[in-house]
Order: sequence, then structure tokens, then C-alpha cells
Amino acid sequence: MKPVSRIAIFASGSGSNAQRIAEYFAGKGILEISAIYCNSSASYVLERARLLGIQAILFDRESFYNTSDILVDLRERKVDWIVLAGFLWLIPAYLLKSFPNRIINIHPALLPKYGGKGMYGAKVHEAVIASHDTESGITIHYVNEQYDEGQVIFQAKCTLTETDTPESLAAKIHELEYKYFPVVISDLIRSKKRRDTSRNTI
Ligand code: GAR
Repeated sequence: MKPVSRIAIFASGSGSNAQRIAEYFAGKGILEISAIYCNSSASYVLERARLLGIQAILFDRESFYNTSDILVDLRERKVDWIVLAGFLWLIPAYLLKSFPNRIINIHPALLPKYGGKGMYGAKVHEAVIASHDTESGITIHYVNEQYDEGQVIFQAKCTLTETDTPESLAAKIHELEYKYFPVVISDLIRSKKRRDTSRNTI
């Protein structure tokens, strides 16, 4: 039987993408969510984790940037991939080094537009509306040492009308995220596994 991949989800906010990913993969035998890591005790994702029966791990800035606690925990859980689903802190170099091309992020705009420090959630949608853009979308990308600058894996677009508000745009973006994020994760994991298998058989 093929080994199941283990992912860790990092989230800072509501966690609706984390929930969607968990529900999409439940019972499929492709991957399991080892834990949901969260940097804010006020995040609703903690409640979602509880309801989903997934362990939540709360951490602070000090342990994230200045200790190896999280890396040790990820290794103990044998995590293969890290998925950022609404996670707002920059990923430190030690994690990038330990998970090369194994950390992916979802951003609620068509990068390279509307990315960078401070561009998250509603702020992105407000900027898109203020610029009178006629389209927006989602970007799923590898994570590097800069905010929102890693190699793009996948993008999907939606159109904007003149009556769109940041809230209505957020709803369109979430719809795209729920539709595509789990599928892209699944494809990535499968193709990486295929590459690993063929490497082992040469
Ligand atoms: C999502 O729209 C995600 O793309 C965005 O935060 C939202 C989290 O929603 N991420 C960023 O803005 C990162 N720069 P959720 O907590 O309901 O999944």
C-alpha cells in the first residue's frame, strides 16, 4: 500500500480553507493532516480543529523564530508538507531549509499583483476594488524567504463587476479556494510521489 503523506496546516484566522482541506481528504487515504499550527489564540481555526478532531498547536513569535520547537514537533509527526492556509507570518529560513519545495501558500489575488507584507485577506480585496480591476483570483505558490514571491504553481481567475465590494469579492475568492486548493495539493503530492518512486527504481 502507498504510504499516506502527512501535511501540517499553518493558519492565523478563520480557517475555512483548513476545514475544506480536511473534509476533502477525509477517508481518501491520500494524506492525513498531522496538526493545525496556529499563531493566535483568538483564531476560529482552533475551534474548527477541535470540531474536526485534528490536534491544534498554538505557538508564539518567540518559539517560531527563535527556537526549534516547531521543527522538532513537525519531525516527530513525520510531516512531509506544510500548507499555509491564511497564515500571516513570514516563514523562517530553518523551515524553508528543512522542507525544500515542500511549503505551499494560497494567496487571494493574482500574484505578482497585490502581494507582499501586509497584503492579506480583506486588505487585498480592498486594494483590488480600489484599482478598478476587472478580474482577480487566487495563486497557489511555493514559499520562499519573501512574502508571496515563490514560484507559482496554480492560478484561477474570477471576474469583477462594478458593484463588487471587498466582501462579495472575498466570497468569490473563497469559492475558488475551496474548489481548487485541495485538488492542487492532491496533484502536487501525487506527482512528487511518482517522481520519488521513479527515482528509486532507476
Ligand atoms: C484566504 O482567502 C487566504 O487566501 C488568505 O487569507 C484567507 C484565509 O481564509 N491568505 C492571505 O491573505 C495570505 N497572504 P480562511 O482562514 O477562512 O481559510
